[in-house]
Amino acid sequence: MSRIDGTAIAQKVHEETRQRIAALAARGIQPGLAVVLVGDDPASRAYVRSKDKRAADLGLHSVKHELPAPTSQADLIALVRTLNADPAIHGILVQSPPPAHIDESAVVVAIDPRKDVDGFHPLNVAKLALDDPTGFVPCTPLGCIRLLQEAGIETAGARAVVVGRSMIVGKPMALLLLRRGTDATVTVAHSRTRDLAAVTREADIVIAAIGRPHFLGAGHIRPGATVIDVGINRIDDPSSPKGYKLVGDVDYDAVAEKCAAITPVPGGVGPMTIALLMANTVTACERLTA
Ligand code: GUN
Repeated sequence: MSRIDGTAIAQKVHEETRQRIAALAARGIQPGLAVVLVGDDPASRAYVRSKDKRAADLGLHSVKHELPAPTSQADLIALVRTLNADPAIHGILVQSPPPAHIDESAVVVAIDPRKDVDGFHPLNVAKLALDDPTGFVPCTPLGCIRLLQEAGIETAGARAVVVGRSMIVGKPMALLLLRRGTDATVTVAHSRTRDLAAVTREADIVIAAIGRPHFLGAGHIRPGATVIDVGINRIDDPSSPKGYKLVGDVDYDAVAEKCAAITPVPGGVGPMTIALLMANTVTACERLTA
């Protein structure tokens, strides 16, 4: 079994991004990313912190807006409109999910699609479905594709099963795997799929994006398959100073014995999501300043 090292592959993406940032700097341009968080969900705070830190490390202009949980939808949309109009900002990300009183889709449509580096705006969703390369693709599925490429996993003609149908991962993942040039045969499974294990056991490539700790075990995976674990779940761990540890949607130890290649959690998909977010931000800047 080989362990796909997301941290190392993310570094490679960051090096490419650094070169593109240097080329922009030579023209007197600095890409800017605004990350917005509403509320105090600890996992979301941690994600936003690491995005902001990485952006600053790469030399991006990075702005973090942390708003209190009772912030109104109107105030959040007003902030988005201010960022849309700010020439120093090229990428805008509103951390998902927002508190329950906020209609996320109303916020997403308020983002200028040219600055929607998450690829959540309906225009960008449509462009992905239409194979129009001028849009933005969500960072996590984009990172998963890059992991497969860098690990040398053949996707053309392969049977891929995506477990999960979210707008952030499952659906765009399926479209990317299906795309011409990637050419997988794609099945999307979800919580209502009958005999899930029988479906995933057919797969050469399993993408686990369910959001439940250790949901997929050895019985779900065919010997020799490749497993990409998108899950980042906090489970209690009294032996850790933090009181929790991060585990994926896949029972790593059980599956690692059977499969050909697998991404760990942490150190797999997580660093790639951030790397592709930075790359998307630089793309937004290049397009807006072309
Ligand atoms: N929440 C979980 N993943 C993501 C992501 O990629 N972008 C945003 N904005 N929120 C998320």
